[in-house]
Amino acid sequence: MSKPKILIQFDTDDHACAFDGVVAADSGIDQLFQYSKITLDDVQRLVYGAIFTRGVEDLHQTAIFVGGSDVAKGEAIVEKINSVFFGPMRVSVMMDSNGCNTTAAAAVLAAARHIELNGATATILAGTGPVGVRAARLLAGAGATVRIGSRSQTRAMEAAATINERLQSDAVTGVETSSSDQTTAALDGSNILIAAGAAGIQLVDTSCWKGNESLKVAVDLNAVPPLGIESVDVMDQAVDHSGTVCYGAVGVGGTKMKIHKAAIASLFHSNDKVLDAEEVFQIGLEQ
Ligand SMILES: NC(=O)c1ccc[n+]([C@@H]2O[C@H](COP(=O)([O-])OP(=O)(O)OC[C@H]3O[C@@H](n4cnc5c(N)ncnc54)[C@H](OP(=O)(O)O)[C@@H]3O)[C@@H](O)[C@H]2O)c1
Repeated sequence: MSKPKILIQFDTDDHACAFDGVVAADSGIDQLFQYSKITLDDVQRLVYGAIFTRGVEDLHQTAIFVGGSDVAKGEAIVEKINSVFFGPMRVSVMMDSNGCNTTAAAAVLAAARHIELNGATATILAGTGPVGVRAARLLAGAGATVRIGSRSQTRAMEAAATINERLQSDAVTGVETSSSDQTTAALDGSNILIAAGAAGIQLVDTSCWKGNESLKVAVDLNAVPPLGIESVDVMDQAVDHSGTVCYGAVGVGGTKMKIHKAAIASLFHSNDKVLDAEEVFQIGLEQ
């Protein structure tokens, strides 16, 4: 008889994220263990609890989810988890602090429904945050040329350089998009626009993007008014605005949920998965 599927939630916040717990419960697991205020010092003890309790043949029935609002802390926790594993003594791990991986994957998947990513040009406004950087990684990894926008040329170039180094490519460039003129210039020749700015910040007004004939898809990830792309509604789901197919934050939310559940379910297929943005995106492509 197979062992129950146990998901162990490592959350870096004071209270483990209820959203992640609900999605886990809806993803076919049998037991959810939630740990909050997780620090690097807690990792070894908890990982030992996960890997030394069941036989190797049953370790695929245990998995770890890393969440919390601080993406940098989540990344460090995953690194520590992986350093504790050895040989076959490991369980599968998914990282989605602040929803960064599932949100970026959903945005890029929305674009991929309407345009071939390989060879496309994409602009990610406010692309220096965790979601924007991951979306840029996914797009560049799929063969797109990517422009990362920021209020700061330096931050934009730093984000681009980090991704290029990781991918060993020069597909990503950083551009300042502080003014409407700069934003319009960044969108010139772009086929994909992703607005990945902080909640409640409008990044681009209508005149900068409507009527841009090259722009085939626009995705706004900000659900809090004012929205990131003026004229795109938060509920838009493949709505045509003058030749550009548009998605609002709630419009991509269904895809995000689907990817999140499928990713959790996939953790239990083997005991050696580490799901970061690229793996989560691949799972999304397979849905
Ligand atoms: N639906 C979901 O489940 C879900 C999950 C995660 C995220 N999201 C949404 O996705 C978006 C991106 O998330 P994130 O965590 O990557 O965002 P973030 O780190 O909060 O912000 C992204 C970028 O926005 C820019 N920014 C911040 N304040 C600004 C301001 N006052 N004016 C103009 N630009 C500003 C910054 O870029 P520069 O300083 O370089 O300009 C920052 O790097 C957010 O809207 C978030 O709410 C949704």
